[in-house]
This record gives sequence, structure tokens and C-alpha cells, in this order.
Amino acid sequence: MGSVGAKEVPELLSPEGLRIDGRRLDELRPLKITAGALHQAEGSAFVEWGANKVMAAVYGPREVHPRHLQQNNKAIIQCRYNMAAFSVDERKRPGLDRRSQEISKVISEAFESVIFVEEFPRTSIDVYIEVLQANAGTRCAGVVAASVALADAGIPMADLVPSVAAGKISGHIALDLKKEEDNFGEADLPMALVPQSGRLVLLQMEGHMTRAELTEALDMGIKGCHQIYGKMKDALRARYQVTEAPPTEVTA
Ligand code: CDP
Repeated sequence: MGSVGAKEVPELLSPEGLRIDGRRLDELRPLKITAGALHQAEGSAFVEWGANKVMAAVYGPREVHPRHLQQNNKAIIQCRYNMAAFSVDERKRPGLDRRSQEISKVISEAFESVIFVEEFPRTSIDVYIEVLQANAGTRCAGVVAASVALADAGIPMADLVPSVAAGKISGHIALDLKKEEDNFGEADLPMALVPQSGRLVLLQMEGHMTRAELTEALDMGIKGCHQIYGKMKDALRARYQVTEAPPTEVTA
């Protein structure tokens, strides 16, 4: 066990190769997706993923604000990622900081290449991502929530966009890092995939890993994305499942 400043570094892998929450290296945290969680929005989704809780709401296609951003040949995608002040251990200052702006930008760009934006010129598709509880991997949870919310809103898209981070802890490549692993691990590699075409539409890296490790992390992350893809489709199926109408009572 080493130390960073005054902080003790926790043991991230047991001698049996299990992580602090008992997961194997290639195992996701429990993930629950609810499509259509809000009544006001045109599309919405709530994602509970490990200790993360993220809500996404979609509006549009609608008039562009601010007006000068309007594009004559396509819709613009405006994603706004926000962390609630109460979402982290130490109160986060409310409002859009640089980190939130960067995450909002990369998520908007990810969806621009998937949504059929040419079908809605001079409009904006607005996606609000609110992190209510954060425990690492919130941008990925945000992409998953936004993607299901966009589908729930009926926005035409080439595919859903599953997302997850792979990373490196105690010298090993691992899937879906939780907070302690993100803080004390060696690397974090969030990604988002378009499963049908195999395209990555978001890829970022913090920390360091070798080229061989990067390949392993990408493979592990892509496999994880396929698992998440299944859960996203299940959530949408559950939302639109046609339930048998209860028998109507006939009174004379
Ligand atoms: O959440 P994600 O992994 O996408 O982004 P990050 O910048 O790597 O942040 C990792 C985690 O650090 C977040 O999920 C939060 O749990 C925590 N964090 C925090 O406590 N305060 C902040 N201002 C930002 C992040």
C-alpha cells in the first residue's frame, strides 16, 4: 500500500483479483435504465448505475436559442451536462464550470454524428443531462441516459449510443471504474460506441497506459458497450410494451 500526500491509497485489487466492490476486472456495476421518467419533457430517461444517478430530458426539434447558432441545412444538438451541487461529497459550486462545458461539448458532438440532423434544418435538439449523484463514469451515464431519452422523444437516429469507461487499476485493465478506482487508479478511458457501425463517437483518456494496454482497454470497453446496448433496448421495449387492456366493465 502506498500513499499520495497524506491520503492512504486503498488496495484496489484483492489477491484473488477482485475489486473493492467484489467485481471481476471485466464486470460492469449494476445498471438500471428507466425510459420516460419525466412527464414534461418530450423524451426522458433515468439511469442508476452503481452509485451514479443521472437524469436526461430532451426537447425539440425546436426554435434555436440563441438565434445566431441556427444552421440552414441541419439541426444543431445542444447537450448540457450539469452536476447538482449535492451530487458529490464536497459541495460542487453550482453552474457550468470548464469541466461541464467540455463534457457538454464532447457529448453534443457524439450525438451530432448519430442523429439525422439534416431532417430538421433551422432547429435545435436540446438535451439536458443532470447528474444527481456522482461516483465516476458520469459522462458515460449521461450519454446512455441522453441516448435513451432521444429515442424516447422519437428523434430519428442511426443507432443508440452505449458508453462506458475502461481504465487501469493496480496495473490491470478494468471495466467501469468507480470513484476510488478513478481517483487512485492509473488511467481512465471513457468511450461511446455506435454498435451497428462499430464507430467510436467519444473517446477520452486521463492517466497513462501502454499501447498494448490501450488495445485491451478498448476491447474491454467495446464489449461493455454491447452489454449496455442490450439494457438500453430493454428499457425502451419496457416503455413501449403494449400491455393488454383490462376488461371493461359493462353496466346495464
Ligand atoms: O464522472 P466522470 O468519470 O465522467 O468524470 P471525471 O471528471 O473523471 O470525474 C470522476 C468523478 O469525480 C465524478 O464522477 C465525481 O464522482 C467526482 N467529481 C467530484 O467529486 N467533484 C467534481 N467537481 C468533479 C468530479
